[in-house]
Amino acid sequence: MTKARAYTNIALIKYWGKRSVAEMIPFNNSISLTLDQFYTETSVTFTDATTQQAADRFYFAGQWQAPTPKMTRVLTRIRDLAGLNRQAIIKSKNFVPTSAGLASSASAFAALAAAGSRAAGLSLSSRELSILARHGSGSASRSVLGGFVEWQAGTDDQSSYATNLLDPVPFPIAVIALVVNSAPKKILSTAGMQHSVAHSPFYPAWVQTATAALAPMRAAIAQGDIAQIGTLAETNAMQMHATTLSANPPFTYFAPETLMIWQLVQEIRTKGLSCYLTLDAGPNPKLICAMQDVGPIMTQLHQALPNLAGTVCQPGPAVQIID
Ligand code: PMV
Repeated sequence: MTKARAYTNIALIKYWGKRSVAEMIPFNNSISLTLDQFYTETSVTFTDATTQQAADRFYFAGQWQAPTPKMTRVLTRIRDLAGLNRQAIIKSKNFVPTSAGLASSASAFAALAAAGSRAAGLSLSSRELSILARHGSGSASRSVLGGFVEWQAGTDDQSSYATNLLDPVPFPIAVIALVVNSAPKKILSTAGMQHSVAHSPFYPAWVQTATAALAPMRAAIAQGDIAQIGTLAETNAMQMHATTLSANPPFTYFAPETLMIWQLVQEIRTKGLSCYLTLDAGPNPKLICAMQDVGPIMTQLHQALPNLAGTVCQPGPAVQIID
């Protein structure tokens, strides 16, 4: 049995749309920060039973279930790489503060790739692990690494993987993960992004602007400029969400509280605090700020929304084998 722990990440320049759905190749590079508060632990054992005789088994949240097609895809690749034909038993647990409403596919597939490949006797490089994790979920390709990470879109299977931009992170950046709604999202990210690709006239402009924002984001990270990182991330997030609002038919991941918090963030900035908002394929905002500003920012938010729950994250590490 091999057990791995992988941390989730928040995209600062987002991945939103696949050039190749079959190979999971995105249209543009993306840049993320791995977070230290949310992680998945997964153990994998390959038994003596061959896959012809028995199906893989998955134990999650206290019960046995069939693995999802995405899990099978990753396990099949592991078996192919290792020349193995055995049944896998997978046990997985998410460590996310109660009702955090945070998507965990990034940490889940990075942990599965690391534990599964090691259990199969493989010793993969971080590049190979990133490629493997990408087949479960695009954002998982970035959770293989810690700190600031860039996923190179590439053009085919072997050229699409994540690399480190900066780890460890020597400046005090924080991400406050806020929860306005912890219900599962109605439109999953894969369906949402491909709808934008096919039905938003703004989609080509999204790819162009996201690509143009990569160099300024890399420079802001290299300079440790938290305000600039936040400014670029907020603009990029709104440009991504503009592709859902402009699709035909249109849709949105925003909840009323999401917009309320965005407005509060803009007010907080007028009071001289550096605070910026980003959000993924769901309504829960993540605020980017400096560690020393977390207290004053939460005080301001609580004046308007007394029950708002938040978790303060700092840069997190790369995937690790823990058992
Ligand atoms: O990797 P997926 O299928 O969970 O899609 C991730 C999409 C976003 O979270 C919205 C953006 C990103 O780059 O993580």
